[in-house]
Amino acid sequence: MNQIPLLGTGLNGLVGSKFTMDFANSYDFDNMDLRNPVRPVDITSDKQVLSVLSKSEAEFVVHMAAFTDVTGAWQQTGDTNGSCYMVNVKGTENLVKACEETGKHLIYLSTAYVFDGEKEDLYTETDKTNPIEWYGKTKALAEEIVQNSNINWTILRIDQPFRNDRFDKVDTLHRVLDGMKNGKLYPQFADHHFGPTYINDLAKIIDFIIRQKMTGLYHASSGESWTDFEFAKFINETFNLNFDLQEGSLAKYLETSNRPYQKNTALNIDKLKGSLDFELKNIKIAIKETEL
Ligand SMILES: NC(=O)c1ccc[n+]([C@@H]2O[C@H](COP(=O)([O-])OP(=O)(O)OC[C@H]3O[C@@H](n4cnc5c(N)ncnc54)[C@H](OP(=O)(O)O)[C@@H]3O)[C@@H](O)[C@H]2O)c1
Repeated sequence: MNQIPLLGTGLNGLVGSKFTMDFANSYDFDNMDLRNPVRPVDITSDKQVLSVLSKSEAEFVVHMAAFTDVTGAWQQTGDTNGSCYMVNVKGTENLVKACEETGKHLIYLSTAYVFDGEKEDLYTETDKTNPIEWYGKTKALAEEIVQNSNINWTILRIDQPFRNDRFDKVDTLHRVLDGMKNGKLYPQFADHHFGPTYINDLAKIIDFIIRQKMTGLYHASSGESWTDFEFAKFINETFNLNFDLQEGSLAKYLETSNRPYQKNTALNIDKLKGSLDFELKNIKIAIKETEL
């Protein structure tokens, strides 16, 4: 089978490495990565980004590189020279400009943290963004740059991703699993809602977007809403961990912390789900097929 040339950023990351693993037969991946020994690329350099895009036959660029440490980002609040702003905003701007010059389609991975978390229901694509911390702010600024450009673009917003296998960067599910296995999991918030994203399915969604050349803004999580406590409880039961799980409260925690936290980041995915040519796994099934 002929592999389609595909440019990407962040393809060594938690999400990107699963996508390249699962679709190794479909795409000839070219990763714009700092650690590439032959051709390192720093996406904060406009020259390096344009140079790679100009030489590539790829029609699509899947942009997943980001400064993803939310607590680290909080410590850089307001610093437009800091690594968080530079990678998330300047890096995305460089990619957009290079796509404008080379006629490429940009697929940008974004986050539910562009919302303030005050909504009682699932967030839809028409809800207004209103980030409350620096990581979310930089991702929202990057979304604006993408949306205000003249390129073909697709934005996929996700929340709390996890995959069935283990990866160096511990994901949402394995963090909880390991905490319970080691007997050291904090009480889990029963008043914090999130929308887990099964990366195995997200990889299929990205492939679908490329195959269908779909443009626009889409929520691409599981479409489900879980509390931290429900999530941990289901993991505890599924893997017979017999951990003495305690309920915690985000509201109480916030009384002692000055870093803001969104109370709800669950995403409604009806817009995307209606177009897909495959079924997304429900989160209970995804958890059950996860490697311990
Ligand atoms: N993880 C989450 O909880 C989450 C939630 C919602 C949305 N997202 C979004 O989903 C996407 C993927 O997240 P992830 O968790 O897979 O990310 P990740 O594991 O933290 O990986 C980030 C990647 O970005 C690369 N990178 C950082 N700075 C770079 C630079 N200056 N130039 C080139 N590459 C650079 C890193 O390369 P090195 O490995 O060489 O450092 C790494 O491969 C991101 O856009 C993120 O904002 C993630």
